[in-house]
Amino acid sequence: MTGSFPLAARASGLVGSVIDSSTSLLHRQTHDVVRFAMGSPAAEAIPSRLAELAADVLGPDAADAYDYAATEGDPPLREALLSVLRGTTDETTADRLTITAGGMQGLDLACKLFVDPGDLVVVESPTYTNGSATALSYGAELLEVPVDEEGMIVEALPELVRRSGRTPKAVYAIPTFQNPSGATLSLDRRGRLLDLAGSWGAVVIDDDPYGELRFEGAALPSLRELGGGDPLVFSVRTFSKTIAPGLRVGWVDAAPELQPLLVNAKQAMDTCTNLPAQRLVAAFLAGGHLDEHLARIREEYQRRKRAMQDALTEHLGDLAGARWTDPAGGFFLWVTLPGVDTVALAEVALAEGVAFIPGPAFSPTGRFPDAARLCFASTTPERTVEGVARLRRAVETLPPAARRC
Ligand SMILES: Cc1ncc(COP(=O)(O)O)c(C=O)c1O
Repeated sequence: MTGSFPLAARASGLVGSVIDSSTSLLHRQTHDVVRFAMGSPAAEAIPSRLAELAADVLGPDAADAYDYAATEGDPPLREALLSVLRGTTDETTADRLTITAGGMQGLDLACKLFVDPGDLVVVESPTYTNGSATALSYGAELLEVPVDEEGMIVEALPELVRRSGRTPKAVYAIPTFQNPSGATLSLDRRGRLLDLAGSWGAVVIDDDPYGELRFEGAALPSLRELGGGDPLVFSVRTFSKTIAPGLRVGWVDAAPELQPLLVNAKQAMDTCTNLPAQRLVAAFLAGGHLDEHLARIREEYQRRKRAMQDALTEHLGDLAGARWTDPAGGFFLWVTLPGVDTVALAEVALAEGVAFIPGPAFSPTGRFPDAARLCFASTTPERTVEGVARLRRAVETLPPAARRC
């Protein structure tokens, strides 16, 4: 009912997020629900050390932690971050770094700087629709490119772009343990993607929140590293998956020439990132706790992935064509149940006591009607078994029409 408001044209591009709305939906439930929906770290994986550090860093003698902060980020966090990134594929320099309110703000800043109404933005299909929604909110037109086990099918991109009759302005890529498919863009495709984007003069929005959460196989260089300082690579990172999402602390790594613009854009958005949260993250990093924490959660997430795969085999393995991915890291399994309408299933499943995100939520044009994203990271193996059993019961209770989509 917005007809009587003098809304800006861009308001009609605000599509919201089925993923984020699941948090409110779950708060409203009064029965027991196993939560495979949000891409949240396990409650047990939130470092208990944060609470200990909070007493020192945010305690009675730390009044300055409640002031406004520098827009580009609080110096102790910037220093600690540069130091933990040293020697990693995301090593960077102070002139490229801007601290943000999580990865979402990095995506918003990227689109604010690069996307005009009507610009063509390439996205993976399926994609993290909060990212594509951000591009839409700036008036982008989206070009969906299919994903296989090696990530975005970059080989298909030139022809899809040719058919669109346009030159892309930006490519939004989630190269490692992609949300939602779990796929990782191969080294060869990483190189090709950078070359193609370069040939179009398009910016690559390199959104890589899960790269540090590899529990199998060998790490690949980030797009950021492969770009070697290419000004068209705009990297978005966050502590949401590696430390805690509620802190809302992340960073952007971009060409130094962009930093004044990023600061101006952020000042017109939120002035600065929450200072108590920055101080807490800085203390955690400077205390040398990150490596040990990552080692612990990688192992636990691998155990949880396997538990979910085993439970799926046990409870859904007999459904014709049922299949799921086997990611080497990250948070998600992408499950395909041929013929099952997963939007209808999500509703029945919630009543049955299990929540997940249906496939169409990951495509701006509503593709993947028989797919689902299940987060294995948040839930203990024991609860996961119960949740998948509930999912099977939900499939059984679906009306016949919803099993023939
Ligand atoms: C691919 C991707 N990008 C960005 C984000 C947003 O990160 P944050 O919660 O730090 O804003 C997420 C969170 O789920 C994500 O999966």
